[in-house]
Order: sequence, then structure tokens, then C-alpha cells
Amino acid sequence: MRILGKEKKFVSGSGFGLIECENGFVRIDPVRESIMRLRVSASGEFPDSVSPMLVDNFKPQGGVEVIEGSRMVVTGSMAVWYRSGKVSFLGKNGRHLCNSSPEGGFTIGEGRTGCRLSMPKKSHYYGFGEKGGWLDKRETRMMMWNLDMFDPNARGNASQGNTDVDPMYASIPFFIQYRAGRCHGIFIHSDQKSFFDLGMDDNETFGMTVENDVLDMFVIDGPEISDVVRLYTELTGRMDLPPLWALGYHQCRWSYPNEKRVREIAKLFRKNEIPCDAIWLDIDYMDEYKSFTFNNKAFPKPKKLSKDLMNDGFRMIVNLDPALADDPDWEIAQKGKKKDYFFREGKDFYIGKVWPGDALFPDFRNRKAADWFADLGCKFADEHGLSGLWFDMNEPADMSNPWDCPVHLAHGNLYAHYQLAAMYDAWHKSHPDSRHFFLTRSATAGTQRYASIWTGDIRSRFGHLETAIPMCCNLGLSGMPFNGSDVGGFADNCDGELFARWMQYGAFTPFFRNHSSTGTSDQEPWAYGKKVLNICREYTALRYRLLPYIYSAFHQAVETGAPIQRPMIYSFPDDERFVNEARQYMFGDHILVAPVTNRGVDWKRVRFPEGKWVDFHTGKIIEGPDNMKVDAPLKKMPVYIRGGAPIPMWPAAQSTEAIDRKILRVECYPGGNAQTVLYEDDGETRAYERGDWAETVLETREDDEKRILIRRPAEGKYRVKGRKIEVVFVGCRSKRSEVTLVANGRRRKRKPGIGSKRNEISVKVPDNDEGFEIELRY
Ligand code: GLC
Repeated sequence: MRILGKEKKFVSGSGFGLIECENGFVRIDPVRESIMRLRVSASGEFPDSVSPMLVDNFKPQGGVEVIEGSRMVVTGSMAVWYRSGKVSFLGKNGRHLCNSSPEGGFTIGEGRTGCRLSMPKKSHYYGFGEKGGWLDKRETRMMMWNLDMFDPNARGNASQGNTDVDPMYASIPFFIQYRAGRCHGIFIHSDQKSFFDLGMDDNETFGMTVENDVLDMFVIDGPEISDVVRLYTELTGRMDLPPLWALGYHQCRWSYPNEKRVREIAKLFRKNEIPCDAIWLDIDYMDEYKSFTFNNKAFPKPKKLSKDLMNDGFRMIVNLDPALADDPDWEIAQKGKKKDYFFREGKDFYIGKVWPGDALFPDFRNRKAADWFADLGCKFADEHGLSGLWFDMNEPADMSNPWDCPVHLAHGNLYAHYQLAAMYDAWHKSHPDSRHFFLTRSATAGTQRYASIWTGDIRSRFGHLETAIPMCCNLGLSGMPFNGSDVGGFADNCDGELFARWMQYGAFTPFFRNHSSTGTSDQEPWAYGKKVLNICREYTALRYRLLPYIYSAFHQAVETGAPIQRPMIYSFPDDERFVNEARQYMFGDHILVAPVTNRGVDWKRVRFPEGKWVDFHTGKIIEGPDNMKVDAPLKKMPVYIRGGAPIPMWPAAQSTEAIDRKILRVECYPGGNAQTVLYEDDGETRAYERGDWAETVLETREDDEKRILIRRPAEGKYRVKGRKIEVVFVGCRSKRSEVTLVANGRRRKRKPGIGSKRNEISVKVPDNDEGFEIELRY
């Protein structure tokens, strides 16, 4: 590897800047106000590369100015400064973002390019997609190469400093550097293998290398983490609004063997009163592991099954693998061959090994092949009443050559991305007014536009539960907010204590699905006796009650890319206690969640941010900032609400279908003034794109004499006719408090209801277009 070396000339191109150096060239393109694209190549060739990771309408915007005398290229509000082979990046108002390490910034070698940056003391690094280990990636090494990694994180507990198994199924070469509350991000635009060394070779250097001739990076100014995530997702896109049911609880296992068992599982959910919205069929539903087929003996009438399930509020979802059985008698495989849709190695179709044995891999780079697969997928879903699809093994996984399968080498990290892009288009073409729900195992930058993700084959161990938190937080910071881990753990047998703790955590994660491997003991909520069953019932019900709040958090993700499960540092960037905090996190704007991730303990140490925090279970107020050991017996996961926050809720229900939307409960917590923007729509169709949505600001005010909830008039067209709003003030000082409704310029006293558990006072009022205020006087 050579270093790029000293600058020789600064040139203004048409709309870009070019720096000619001793051993190559740097090209700088403005992208947005706060995003700059910088490319390095030995030859000075910069192929016009816009990969599918970027949004379709990706276009450079803004001007560029080359100031040779001061050795600077300025784009919008950002600048690159190149002097004596050293590079510095400047953000808005000349803020210094980062600079090259003392040996020099860019490196060029045989088919590899790289960058070495200084790692300032007290800098911290987040993002990088799906990675094991702790939240801050300082002092780790990582590789980006999508891999079927059974048993990830097996080495132990993240908090014990293990770097864990790497790489994993999804690769997102994007990170955020944080230092003293100030941030910027870097996205390495590459679908090839890339390597990150964060202070391992040298603790003051951050090294990045890609297996490309051109290093292509986007530098994103902050200064907040949220700014970086917003801008990064402007580049790579954001998720679509999911159907509401996808936010419910999902039950999966490898595999429910037949129709009878599936019906029995559905019945047991309703009998045990555990809310559930979807039952998933894993690979054994197929006829000899052939995608797009059902085993007729085990599942004689899949369409009838899905219909019956739907009548009872359950969706049916199946696993769909990309590699297709190489069976001379199977029409689909033969047709694919005839059409030349499978990947060839030389003259012959490449044959790998997946569940059916010998398998052919659709060449998803060929759009026709991808569309063919996607059409088959949509037809299969429609014919059998499947509400969503689960895309597994799409790294692609090839058991005969896990690391360097030629299909993978040819597609880079884009195999799943191509597959899902085609699926997305096909689904929306054939279901113009419906939303899609796809779950994927593999992904790269931008895949959030098409699918949600889960973290693969994690084990049933407390250490893996603990690791799931930073992993999901970092996925959220990497543009993939709709994520989750297998509740209860996938491999190994789960026990009651671990299961209860995982269900409590899962209820507060974006994607909430229980899944377990073949050969493990039953992992349904009733498998561990009454005590655990009751805990599962309470927390799943709570999940459903919180859906209006959770759905609004999803809407934020759709609009701004904001994660749903957020590391504390995202929400409290000035509190340095949180730079590597992943034992607790924020779920949306106002809920602090502190899962118990150790066996046999009945307490949890919680770090409270500044302000007041209200114990969700008791209504007790805690004054932050503070670090405190709190009570957490098995039946309780510590959950706190930001002081003053209004939390919109629904009545509990057994499925999203069964929710009584005529009642909206707004719980107002004491301890401050806060705001929630409630987003609503029908939760199912795309009518929201035609204005059928509503956004309502709920606001609280508090002083020594009174607390007020203000419900501002809703924006948008969506309304629930005849709805009542139940306003609940939690933690009231006196039961004799007076409640007044202020609406239409009139003040009317209201007789409140009284709840004893959390010292509550409640009042029900009709929902209306004008908005209202409810005043509680002490
Ligand atoms: C893979 C998936 C897992 C699934 C199994 C069988 O290991 O990660 O979730 O159950 O394949 O399909």
C-alpha cells in the first residue's frame, strides 16, 4: 500500500474539485449542504458509480469551490483541506470534523484503497450495522462481508469486552464519530469487503480499507447524532410505513410441523390470552425445501389455514429462501435454467448447498431474474393468503462455500438488497393499495427501504440477550430502525427466567418475534408455567396498549430515519455517562427501558438522565441526573417515563385487529412539560399517501397549582368517528383535585374517575376537531 502523497495541483472540474497528488487523485463532489462525497483513485478515473444502496433520485446538489492557495476544496457548508499529503474535513462554520493520522490520510494498493484517520482521545464510534460487542466500537476490528454466521456472539458477554464473532449477516459500512457531544458520520460506499480497525493496530488511528480501486466515501456533518442519521438516510433511504399488525407480537419456530400444530398454537394464544398477530412457518412447510411450494401432506390446505387464522386475528408468514432446488423434475428450477436466470460459474450453472441439497442461485444482478423470483414470491403469497414474507439465507448462504461462494463474490454485499428491491417493486405493483411486510436476514446500506431485519441465530443465553441491545441500537443508528432479535434466543434451550426477561425486553423493541431452532424445547409463552405466562401476558398486553405511541415512533423513523430503539447517547448527547451505555435505552422519545440481562438478580442499576423520570409501574418520581439501583424482581422490568410526557395508548387487545379504536387513552406523567406528536392512520392501506392521516400534538404544562393536558387540533384527514379520549393524570397529589375541561371557549367541571395503583385521576371526553385542554387543579 502506498500513501497518496503530497498534492501537486488543485483543479476545478465541472461541478467537482480535483486534487492531483503524487500517487493518485482525490475527487470531491458536493452532495447536499452537509454531505460531501470524496473519492480517491490511483488512475484519476472515477467511474460514474451510483449503486443501488443510494436512493434512486440521488443527485449531487450544490456548488464547489477550489481554493488552491489555501489548498482547500469547499462544497456548500463543508470543506476538505489537503496539505503535504494530510487531509482535514471541516463542517459548518469551519468546525473541525476529522483529519488524517500522522502518517498520512489515503492509501492506494493492489485493488485496495483506504483511509487512516486520527482517533482523538475521548472519541466514540457508533453504527456499523449489525455487529456484536458493545455500543461504542472503539478498540475493535470489523469486517463488512455478509455471512451466514450460526451462533453469533458465542464468545460471551458484550460487556466483558469481547469483540465477538465478525462478520455477520448484514454489512452497513457507515458510522458516526462522537466527541464531546459533537458528531459527524462517514459512509463508505462499497459493496465489497471492507475492513475497519478502530485503534487496534495503533490506538490513535482509525484505519479503513476497501477492496475497491476507488475509495468512495461520504462525509456527513452533524453536529447531533440525529442530524447525521437523518442525512445518512436521505442518501440511502428510509423505511416505508409498515402495516400496524407487523408491530404486534409474532410467534415463530423452526418449524411448526403441520397444520394441526399451527391451529393448536393459535388456539393456545387465545386461550392463554397472550396477544399475537402472526404465526410464522419455517422451512419444513415446504415440499422438500423447494421455495414456493407447500408440503401437501403436512399442509393440505394452506389457503384455508391462513384464512381461518386471519379470522382469528393471526397473519401467516413463511420463510422463503433464494436458492432453488436443482431438481430435474421441478418446473420452476427448469424454467429458471431455460431462461438463464441462475448464476453461472464459467459455462455452467453454479450449484451450491442449501436446505434442499444441490441448489441454484438466482442471479439477482439480472433484473429479469430478480423480477421473475419476485413475481413468484408475490403469486405464492397471494395464492396462500400470506401477509408477509421472510427472506432468509440471502447473504447468500452456501453451506458448501460459506466465505467465498462465487455468487457472493459476484454480487458483493448486494445479494439480499437486489432480491428485496425486486420483491418490493413486485409487491407494490401487484398490491397497489397495500403496505408490505418483509423480514430479511442479510442487508446492506439502503436495505431499510425494503425490509425489516432480525439479528439471526442468537443463542438462548443471558449474554446474548445483553448483546442484542447494543446490536439493535447500532442497527437503528445505521438507518435500519425496524429491527429485533429472536425473543428467547434461537439456538439452545431457553429457560423460564431468561424467557421472561427476553419477553419483557422484546415488548419494547421495534420487531417483536419469538423464534427458536429445531431440536430445542418449546418456547411458546406457556411453556414455562404460570408465573412466566403471567409475565408474558402482562408485557405483551402492554406492548399492544402502547401501540399508538410506538406507531408514532415508527412514523418518525419513516420521516427522519430516527431509530425507534435509541441508545441513550442519541437522546442525551451531552451526558457523557452514556457514551458506551447499552444496558438501558430509549424507546421512542419518552420511554426509558432498562432490561434485566443477568441471571438471578432482582435489581438493576439505572442511569437517569437530567430531569424527572416516573416509574411506569408505581408512578414514583425520580430526580435525575442520578445513578440508582432499582428494584427488578422477575415480574418487573424497570421502565420510566420522561417527566410530563403524554403517552397515547389503546385498550389491550388480543390482536391489532381486535383493538377498540374508539378509545384513546392519554396517560400524563408528572414532573415537567413535554410533547408527543401522535401519528395515526388506518394502519393498513396506503390511503395515508392521499392525505388520510392525522397528526395531533399532545402537550403537558405543569406548575405548582395545576397540570394541564393540551390536545391541539389534528392535522390531516384521518379521524376515528365517535372516539372518546380518556385522559389519565398519573401520580396525583390529592384525590380531591378538581378537573376542568376547556373547549370551545368554555370551562366545564368534570367528575373524575380515581385509580388507586398509581394515584391516578382520569376523565373521558369526546374527541373533537377543535382540540381541548384538561386542567387538573391540586
Ligand atoms: C437459519 C435462520 C433461522 C431459521 C433457519 C431454518 O438458520 O437464521 O432463523 O430458523 O435458518 O430456516
